[in-house]
Amino acid sequence: MPIDVALDGHVATITLNRPDVLNAFNTEHLETLHNAIMTLAEEPEVRAVILTGAGERAFAAGADIAEMRDKRPSQALEFARLGQSVCLAIEAAPQPYIAAVNGYALGGGCEVSLACDIRIASENAALGQPEVTLGIPPGWGGTQRLTRLVGPGIARELIYTGRRVKADEALRFGLVNAVYPLSDLMDKARELANSIAANAPLAVRASKDAIARALDVELDTGLSYEAGVFALSFDTADQKEGMSAFLERRKADFTGS
Ligand code: CAA
Repeated sequence: MPIDVALDGHVATITLNRPDVLNAFNTEHLETLHNAIMTLAEEPEVRAVILTGAGERAFAAGADIAEMRDKRPSQALEFARLGQSVCLAIEAAPQPYIAAVNGYALGGGCEVSLACDIRIASENAALGQPEVTLGIPPGWGGTQRLTRLVGPGIARELIYTGRRVKADEALRFGLVNAVYPLSDLMDKARELANSIAANAPLAVRASKDAIARALDVELDTGLSYEAGVFALSFDTADQKEGMSAFLERRKADFTGS
């Protein structure tokens, strides 16, 4: 299978699994990943998802160049839409996604990581958008999400030059939130995922939805949305539980209802 999915408590881990080609994405790989994201989205017990790459060299080295080379424009459009649909599915998922970038995250690999809520990286990671070195621009959201994340100045430099950024530089740019030795990366990802999963799932989901609007709508509209989800959360059992637990000086036990 081009991906593996494992469940541990409230945390799912999706592993991109084509290590022979540094987990590059072909059509089958993308479709399988899309299906897995959609399936996990329907699982209320899953409260956080980690996305990582098999092996010790790559998260994903991009779209599969061997598959892409002979595409006609109409096929390339379809391929762009498929990759974009994976990124949109991650963003639309009820659970936060953590990209554990364990090596190269290039082109489409970087773009998939950019759709995740949080990126952490290993010391050997290298991220970038090398598409122009292949005669194409980014096609799975790099021009849009990289620009939103690191700002137009850095995004333009990285996309126009196609250069790879090592983990420490990625950390400086805010492209990743933290860098760890490769041997610690998955433990750190699980720690982060578990700390999210311990919180009220509907409140985390509402926060994800509201944050997504911050970059797309005017402040007034975003604030109205936030006030709406804030108010709705008072109709959940978890709101009563969270506040009661605080006042009773005990740990909250959230059920996602
Ligand atoms: N597509 C297909 N195969 C790939 C691949 C890719 N994106 N990246 C690596 N591979 C394959 C190599 O062809 C090689 O296969 P063989 O062993 O059969 O020859 C294997 O993976 C190992 O790769 P290398 O021998 O190249 O390993 P390296 O250590 O010398 O270099 C690397 C590693 C710097 C990541 C290099 O493989 C590389 O530059 N890969 C391509 C990165 C890239 O340009 N990605 C962007 C793709 S375009 C895109 O993603 C468009 C988009 O926006 C959607």
